[in-house]
Amino acid sequence: MWPRILLLACSVIPALGLAPSGPWDAFNFAPKSKTVYPASIRQSTGSITTPKNLVNGAGKATLSGVNSSITLDFGVEVGGLVSLNFDTVTPTSSIALSFSESPSFIRLTASDDSTFPDATTTYDGVLNVPAPLTTGFWTQPAFALRGGYRFLTIVSTSKNAVTISNVSCAISFMPHVDDLRAYAGYFYATDPGFHDPDFLTKIWMAGAYTVQTNTVSVNQGRQIPVVATGWANNATLGIAGPIIVDGAKRDRAVWPGDMGIAVPTQFVSTNDLTPTRNALGTMFSHINPTTGALPESGPPLSQLGSDTYHCWTLVGTYNYFLYTGDLAWIEDIWANYTKAVAFVEAKVSPTNGLMNVTGLRDWARQGGGGFNAEGNAILYRVLTTASFLAAAQNLTDLAEAWTANATALKSAFNTAFWVPDLGMYRDNTSTTLTPQDANSFAVLFNLTESAEQAMSVSEGLEKNWNEFGPVAPELPDTISPFISGFELQAHFVAGNSTRAMDLLHREWGYLMYTNLSVESTLLEGITANGSLGYRANVGYNHDPAYTSHAHGWSSGPTSTLTVYVLGLSVTQPQGAEWLLSPHISGLPSAQGGFETPLGSFSASWSVVINKTKSKTTFTANVDVPEGTTGIFEVPVELRGSTGLSVTVDGKAVGLSAPDEGVSIEGGVHTVVVTAT
Ligand SMILES: *[C@@H]1O[C@H](CO)[C@@H](O)[C@H](O)[C@H]1NC(C)=O
Ligand SMILES: *[C@@H]1O[C@H](CO)[C@@H](O)[C@H](O)[C@H]1NC(C)=O
Ligand SMILES: *[C@@H]1O[C@H](CO)[C@@H](O)[C@H](O)[C@H]1NC(C)=O
Ligand SMILES: *[C@@H]1O[C@H](CO)[C@@H](O)[C@H](O)[C@H]1NC(C)=O
Ligand SMILES: *[C@@H]1O[C@H](CO)[C@@H](O)[C@H](O)[C@H]1NC(C)=O
Ligand SMILES: *[C@@H]1O[C@H](CO)[C@@H](O)[C@H](O)[C@H]1NC(C)=O
Ligand SMILES: *[C@@H]1O[C@H](CO)[C@@H](O)[C@H](O)[C@H]1NC(C)=O
Ligand SMILES: *[C@@H]1O[C@H](CO)[C@@H](O)[C@H](O)[C@H]1NC(C)=O
Ligand SMILES: *[C@@H]1O[C@H](CO)[C@@H](O)[C@H](O)[C@H]1NC(C)=O
Ligand SMILES: *[C@@H]1O[C@H](CO)[C@@H](O)[C@H](O)[C@H]1NC(C)=O
Ligand SMILES: *[C@@H]1O[C@H](CO)[C@@H](O)[C@H](O)[C@H]1NC(C)=O
Ligand SMILES: *[C@@H]1O[C@H](CO)[C@@H](O)[C@H](O)[C@H]1NC(C)=O
Repeated sequence: MWPRILLLACSVIPALGLAPSGPWDAFNFAPKSKTVYPASIRQSTGSITTPKNLVNGAGKATLSGVNSSITLDFGVEVGGLVSLNFDTVTPTSSIALSFSESPSFIRLTASDDSTFPDATTTYDGVLNVPAPLTTGFWTQPAFALRGGYRFLTIVSTSKNAVTISNVSCAISFMPHVDDLRAYAGYFYATDPGFHDPDFLTKIWMAGAYTVQTNTVSVNQGRQIPVVATGWANNATLGIAGPIIVDGAKRDRAVWPGDMGIAVPTQFVSTNDLTPTRNALGTMFSHINPTTGALPESGPPLSQLGSDTYHCWTLVGTYNYFLYTGDLAWIEDIWANYTKAVAFVEAKVSPTNGLMNVTGLRDWARQGGGGFNAEGNAILYRVLTTASFLAAAQNLTDLAEAWTANATALKSAFNTAFWVPDLGMYRDNTSTTLTPQDANSFAVLFNLTESAEQAMSVSEGLEKNWNEFGPVAPELPDTISPFISGFELQAHFVAGNSTRAMDLLHREWGYLMYTNLSVESTLLEGITANGSLGYRANVGYNHDPAYTSHAHGWSSGPTSTLTVYVLGLSVTQPQGAEWLLSPHISGLPSAQGGFETPLGSFSASWSVVINKTKSKTTFTANVDVPEGTTGIFEVPVELRGSTGLSVTVDGKAVGLSAPDEGVSIEGGVHTVVVTAT
C-alpha cells in the first residue's frame, strides 16, 4: 500500500512544469482565458446607446451617425483578432476599428503606428469594415491581426446606425499554450522602501507577460516591404513556430540582441524555450555561406550588417544550451556556429588584439565602429561561452584555443579602453565618452580585472541617471530599458545592491506605473524626460506612436530578481550545478524559483535584525533536484561583518574568507548566516 499512499501524497504537489501557487499569482498579468473581453469602457463620442454595455461581453451598443464611437479597454496589453456580432445593420452601415497601446493614441481616425514611423503618427490608419455589413458573427481578417494593444476604438463611419455586441479578442500570442497563467517559475518579495510594496512581484510578472506577448506564430510577422496603407501581419518570420520576436505590436521579427534580455526572462518564468530554439535556428539557417556573417534580424526584415547582433546570436546559443542542455541542437548548428565565430575572430587586429567593428548596426546607439568597447565586450562573451560549448562536446583543444583568445582580448580591452582618471571604460581610443552599454557589459561579462574596478564602473554609471533612469551617453536624450537591464545586473555583480535597487525603482517604477503606457507590459524606450518620443531622430522619424509598449528587451528585472535578489541561478546545463547567492537589497525576505528538465528549483530567504544585540540572522531555504550540486554564497551585504558564522542544516561550516562559496548537495537544505 505504501506506493499508493505516496502517490496520493504527491498529488497535492503541482505537476512538473508548474510553479506552486501563492500570493504571487494575484500579480500575474496573463489573461485567464484565450478569449478576452473588454474590462471597461475608456470613453465614447457622439451618439451611443447603452455605452456601459460591451464590458465583459455583456449587452449591446448602438452607434448612430458618423464619428459616434466607443473605446474599449482590455485592462492589460492584449493581441489577436477582434470578433463581434452585428445585431442590427442598415444597407449603408459601416464601421472602422482603431487600436492603441498607449492611451495617448486613442483616435477615431488612426491606430498607433506599427507599419512605419511617420511624423503624422497616423501611418497605420484604421481597419475599415465597409458596407454592406452582414448581421451575425464577424471576425477581423487574419492579415489585419494587431499584435499588441490595450484600447480598441469602434467608430461608426456612416450616418446610419449599427448595433453591436459580443466584442472580444482571441489572444494570438503563445499559440501553443492553453493556460497563459501556468508559469513554471515565480518570484515574490515585498519592498517596504517603495510606494507600492508589491512592485517587485509586479515588475517580475510584467516582464514575464511581456515576453509571452512576444511569442507568436511563425506566419504572423510584419510584412516587409511594409504595406503602403494600413498594416499586415501575415508574413513568415522564421523556420518554425512558435517563435520569439522583439515586440507585440512591432517589429514582429527575430532580433537576437533583444533576446539577450528576453530569453533569461523566458527561462525563469515560463521555461518555454522552443520559441527561442526556433528563433536562433532561423538566424543560423540564414548565415551567409561565404562569409559566415549572421543577419541582424530574422526574415522578412533580414537586416544585415551588425557585428554586435551577430555576436548576440552566438551568446544566445549558450544561454539556450545552459537552460535546456539541448546538446543535439548544438550539434545541429555547430558547423554554422563555428563559422560565425570565425567571422568575428577574423576582424581581430593582430596589432592591438581588438575586433575592428565594421557591421555598425546595433540597438540604435551611435558610433560603435572601429576598435569599439561595446563590440569587443560582447565578443569576449562570445569567446568565453564558445569555449564552454566546445568543452561540453569534449572539443578540448578548441575550448582551450577560445579561452586563450578570450584571455588575450580581456587584456587588450583593458589596455585600450580603461581610463583610470574616469574610472570607466571609454567607447573607443579617440573619445572620452564612457558608454552605458560597454561599461555595463564589462562588469557583467567579467572584463574587469578587480573588484575595485567593477565598483568604480558601477559608481560611474550612476552619474548618467536622472529621475527616470540612465540617459545613455551613446544615444543622447534616450533612456534604454534594454541597456539598463544589463546595467541593473552590473550593479549587483559589482556588489552594490543599494544602487541596483535605486535604478530598479527609478526606471522600472516609471515604466510600470506611467499612464502613458499599458501598465502591464514594458515600453521599448523613453526620452530623457519620460516621453514616448523614443528614437525620434534616430530612425523613428519623430513618431511617438511607433514606440512599442511590449518589448521583451525591457524585461531585465525579471531574471535579475530571480538571479541576484533571490540569488538562484544555473551554472551548468539544466542546473546540474547551481548557485544560491542572494542579495538582501534592503528587503526583509524573498522567495521564488524556476524549473529545468531536471525538475523544479526553488529558494526562499529572510532576514531578522536584532538591533539590541546588533546581530543579523539570515536564513535561506533551498529545494532543488537530488543529484545536482550547488554553491551558497554569503550575501555581499553581510560579508564585511566581523563575526560571521554559517550553518548548513544546523552544522557549522568554516569559511576561510567571507566570499568563499559553501558547497551544497541537491535536495532540501537550510542555511543560516549570523553576522554581528
Ligand atoms: C469625423 O471626424 C473627422 C476627424 O475628426 C472629421 O474630419 C470629420 O469631419 C468628422 N465627420 C463628421 C460628419 O463629423
Ligand atoms: C497577406 O495578406 C494580404 C492581404 O490579404 C495578401 O494580399 C497577401 O498575399 C498575404 N500574404 C501572405 C504571405 O499570406
Ligand atoms: C461571441 O463571441 C465568441 C468569441 O469571442 C464566440 O465564440 C461566440 O459564438 C459569440 N457569440 C455569438 C452569439 O455569436
Ligand atoms: C547552415 O548554413 C547553411 C548555409 O550555409 C544553411 O543552408 C543550413 O540550413 C544551416 N544549417 C542550420 C542547421 O541552420
Ligand atoms: C576597420 O575596417 C575598415 C573596413 O575594412 C577599415 O576601413 C578601417 O580602416 C579599419 N579600422 C581600423 C582602425 O583599422
Ligand atoms: C568613437 O566614439 C565616439 C563617441 O561614441 C563616436 O562619436 C565615434 O563615432 C566613434 N568612432 C567610431 C570610428 O565609431
Ligand atoms: C565527453 O566525455 C565524457 C567523459 O568521457 C563523456 O561522459 C561524455 O559523454 C562526452 N560528451 C560528449 C558530448 O561526447
Ligand atoms: C585565436 O586568435 C587568433 C589570432 O587572432 C586567430 O588566428 C585564431 O583563429 C583564433 N582561434 C580561434 C579558435 O578562433
Ligand atoms: C573573471 O575573470 C578572472 C580572470 O580574469 C577569473 O579568475 C574569474 O574566475 C572570473 N570570474 C568569473 C565569475 O567568471
Ligand atoms: C552603493 O551605492 C550607493 C549610491 O547608490 C552609495 O551611497 C554607496 O556608498 C555604495 N556602496 C558601496 C559599498 O560602494
Ligand atoms: C496620468 O498621470 C498624470 C500625472 O500623474 C495625471 O496628471 C493624469 O491625470 C493621468 N491621466 C489619466 C488619464 O489618468
Ligand atoms: C534581541 O536580542 C535580545 C537579547 O538576546 C532579546 O531579548 C530580544 O528578544 C531579541 N529581539 C528580537 C526582535 O528578536
